[in-house]
Amino acid sequence: MYRRAFHTARQLWHENPLGLPRSGAPPSIPRMQRGLPQKQRIKNVGKVIAVSSAKGGVGKSTVAVNLALGLSSLGRRTGILDTDIFGPSIPKLLNLSGEPRLSEKNQLIPLSNYGLRSMSMGYLVDPENAVVWRGLMVMKALQQLLHEVDWGELDVLVLDLPPGTGDTQLTITQQVELDGAVIISTPQDIALIDAVKGIDMFSKVKVPILGMVQNMSVFTCPNCSHTTHIFGQDGVLRECRKRNIELLGNIPLHPSICQDADAGRPSVIADPSGETAKAFLEIAGKVDGKLFP
Ligand SMILES: Nc1ncnc2c1ncn2[C@@H]1O[C@H](COP(=O)(O)OP(=O)(O)OP(=O)(O)O)[C@@H](O)[C@H]1O
Ligand SMILES: [Mg+2]
Repeated sequence: MYRRAFHTARQLWHENPLGLPRSGAPPSIPRMQRGLPQKQRIKNVGKVIAVSSAKGGVGKSTVAVNLALGLSSLGRRTGILDTDIFGPSIPKLLNLSGEPRLSEKNQLIPLSNYGLRSMSMGYLVDPENAVVWRGLMVMKALQQLLHEVDWGELDVLVLDLPPGTGDTQLTITQQVELDGAVIISTPQDIALIDAVKGIDMFSKVKVPILGMVQNMSVFTCPNCSHTTHIFGQDGVLRECRKRNIELLGNIPLHPSICQDADAGRPSVIADPSGETAKAFLEIAGKVDGKLFP
């Protein structure tokens, strides 16, 4: 209807980011606002998992993209949805840019690289422009990213979550039938405190925790091979034991992970037989086993 007037995805978002009707009709208020949260499955998507931690900067996006590529390498038709509206990382990590095309039904068509389909707010706004939105706009944007993307047929969709336990997490957990969550943390207490909050949030909304990933677990000096536990040792392992959660794997702190991210070639693509890729692929194998027993 009114959307047919828009020719490109960005035009659609910029001119009418709230998706309000053009007539004088009242705006469609999201279900959640009316106190009617309703979980839905994402159309044509088999399993949906969230990669999360309430703590920022612990490696959620890095693990999410390598996990998704790992699942793809196992033969699963995989997509990744960047749900970080304010700080999307997936376009950079997958070396993708540009505007998504719209399908005949005005749904966003994912951008693909390395065999992985992806959607992100980063494709819908100019990369150098900050998104300055209030909660309602964020929820509406999320709703569209969650339910108005034409993924085709997917076996798994990986959601890369922003830090925190706020609007975004609430919208996702209330609106999408999640098959599990993977919690990322460094071994440091200050990260674990927030990771535990994330676990608690998923438990409250009855989403199974598939396991935890201990990121930046150890640093090995490239010159002398001395190992240092910069962020502490085994903190995530201890938390897993305490809560009866599986530790899916350890990812070392390694400069190549940073470099691969900046080059838009995630480690499992840049060096598939390298040590870090192996660590990511092992995690992907365990997640795959839990999703498709
Ligand atoms: N194991 C690692 N070794 C080296 N660098 C890493 C590792 N994991 C993540 N990084 C780097 O740390 C930074 C933060 O990682 P990332 O963006 O994946 O975290 P995040 O949890 O998604 O952050 P945010 O909370 O902002 O979404 C990035 O520069 C990334 O390249
Ligand atoms: Mg991130």
